[in-house]
Amino acid sequence: MRAFVLASIRSNKSTALVPTMGALHEGHLALVHRAADEADVVIVSIFVNPTQFGPGEDFDAYPRLLEQDVAALDAQGLAAVVFAPPVSEIYSENANLTWVEVDSMGESLCGASRPGHFKGVTTIVSRLFAIIQPDYAVFGLKDAQQFFILSRMSQDMGFATRLIGVDTIREDDGVAMSSRNRYLNAEQRIEARVLSQAVNRARYMIETNGVRDTLKIKKDMVDILQSASSGRLDYAEIVDADTLKPVENLETGQTILAAVAMFFQGARLIDNSISEVR
Ligand code: PAJ
Repeated sequence: MRAFVLASIRSNKSTALVPTMGALHEGHLALVHRAADEADVVIVSIFVNPTQFGPGEDFDAYPRLLEQDVAALDAQGLAAVVFAPPVSEIYSENANLTWVEVDSMGESLCGASRPGHFKGVTTIVSRLFAIIQPDYAVFGLKDAQQFFILSRMSQDMGFATRLIGVDTIREDDGVAMSSRNRYLNAEQRIEARVLSQAVNRARYMIETNGVRDTLKIKKDMVDILQSASSGRLDYAEIVDADTLKPVENLETGQTILAAVAMFFQGARLIDNSISEVR
C-alpha cells in the first residue's frame, strides 16, 4: 500500500480514502462514488477493526464478505483499490500500545453505551491516514458522532486529509441502510422505522415549527421510539453538533444533531438528523 501511495503521489494523482468494515451496501457505495467524484484514485479499506468492539459485541459475528464486496465495487465501474489488511499488519501481536483519542466527544451518545468504541475508531482511522495519506476521506453522516469526532481528530493531529460527510442512504421505508439490519427479524425490521421517524420529527419541529425547547422534542422522539415494542430505547438526544453536548434551549445559528439509538435483540441501531436553527 505504501508503494502504491508513493507512486500515486509521484504521479501527482489525488487520492480519496473510504474506510469501511466491509459487508458493503448502497450506503457504502454512495461514499465510493463521492470519492471518485473528488479524486483521481479511490482506495476503499475493508477492515473489521477489533479495537472498536466492546466485550460481548458482534466482532466475531460481524459479516466478512471480501469476495462479495470486491464484486460489488467492480460492478460500480470505478477503478477502486481495495486495502484489506489482516489484523496482525495493523496491530501488534501482543497488545496495541499507541492510541489516538478525542476527549469528551466520545463519551456521550453512542460512547455512553459503547465505552472505548470511539477510541478504537480514532486509532484505526489515524493509522489508515498515516499509511495512505489521502487528500480526502469520505464518511457517512449516518454515523454523525463518528464524523464529528474524526473531523476533530484530523484537525488536532494535523493530518492534511479533508473529511467529506455524505448524507444517509435509506431503504424505501426510511430505515437507514446498515450492515446490522441483517440481524433483524421481520417484525423488528418493520418496527425499526421508528428511528428515522423520530429524527425526522425532530428536524421538522426545529426547522418548520420553530420549537426551541429540546425537552418537547425529546419527548416526541421518545414517544415514537417506544411505540416499537420489539426494541428497547438506548438514547434520544438533542446535542450541539460542534461539542456533542446536550442543549436545553435552541439558539439561532446553532447546528443541531438529533440522535437516537435502540437495542433490538441481536442488533443495536442508530439514526440521526442534522438541523439548522433559524
Ligand atoms: P462501517 O460501519 O462499515 O461504515 C463505513 C462508512 O460507511 C462509515 O463512514 C459510515 O458512516 C458509512 N455508512 C454506513 N451506512 C451508511 C448509510 N446508510 N448511508 C451513508 N453512509 C453510510 O463506520 C465504520 O465502518 C467504522 O467505524 C470505520 C470508520 C471504518 C472505522 O473502523
